[in-house]
Amino acid sequence: MRIVAFNGSPHAEESNTHVMVDAFLAGARDAGADTENIFLARKKINHCLGCFSCWLKSPGTCIQADDMPELMKHYLSADVVVFATPLHVDNVSGTMKDFIDRLLPLGDPHFEKDPEGEVRHVSGPKKDPRFFMMANSGFPEQSHFQVLRLLIRRMARNFSTDVAGEIYRGGGSLLQEEELKPLVDAYKVVLRTAGSELVKDGKLSPETIRRLEEPLIPAPNYAEIFLSNANAFMDQMIEAHRKG
Ligand SMILES: Cc1cc2nc3c(=O)[nH]c(=O)nc-3n(C[C@H](O)[C@H](O)[C@H](O)COP(=O)(O)O)c2cc1C
Repeated sequence: MRIVAFNGSPHAEESNTHVMVDAFLAGARDAGADTENIFLARKKINHCLGCFSCWLKSPGTCIQADDMPELMKHYLSADVVVFATPLHVDNVSGTMKDFIDRLLPLGDPHFEKDPEGEVRHVSGPKKDPRFFMMANSGFPEQSHFQVLRLLIRRMARNFSTDVAGEIYRGGGSLLQEEELKPLVDAYKVVLRTAGSELVKDGKLSPETIRRLEEPLIPAPNYAEIFLSNANAFMDQMIEAHRKG
């Protein structure tokens, strides 16, 4: 199995997103997968112009010159594509959204009904990979990923593929906190298991899904702890910047 991860964080190699992708892909390689990890922040990806040239004038090819042709080759080479992103205003990052929009040339302009009778575009000549969503948020709860849970299903419908899995980490901004290292290391083990399971079974086990949904800090008053620490931290940062 070939798994290609596209990391949409502006922080690239330094991102909390990368902490998750790195452990997940390591688990996939343990189980024999061939993996690739691409940082979209290192690529030039223009906004989609909405001109439909890629369907009408030059089918399959966008009129803009940037890194998308190379990225589309990586996308098409995958059995599973991981859309890995920080949560930005309850959604994927802007860079990730540009990347997804710019996959348009791979589709076919004609319309069809999906198996449920809802209209979509016909899929393009090349088979799309299976989709996997991976995201982390600043806020601690798992409820912040409601939009992404729906988005990845709608994307899979639109691209005539399916959802191979999804991993969401509330409180992901804590993933590089030195004092939480034992908790983060334990979480990385679960991510690694998830990567191996995807390769071996084509999906994550119910037990792994359950563990991935557990709070990073196993305390009943996690949100309160988060609130007081995060607010104190923000006050310190604001003060430090004010002083220069
Ligand atoms: C523009 C912007 C919007 C954000 N919106 C949210 C949000 O809606 N909910 C949330 O929990 N965190 C939000 N965050 C926080 C990030 O998701 C969080 O800091 C995350 O850990 C960053 O991950 P990264 O290092 O992979 O980029 C936002 C951050 C930015 C910069």
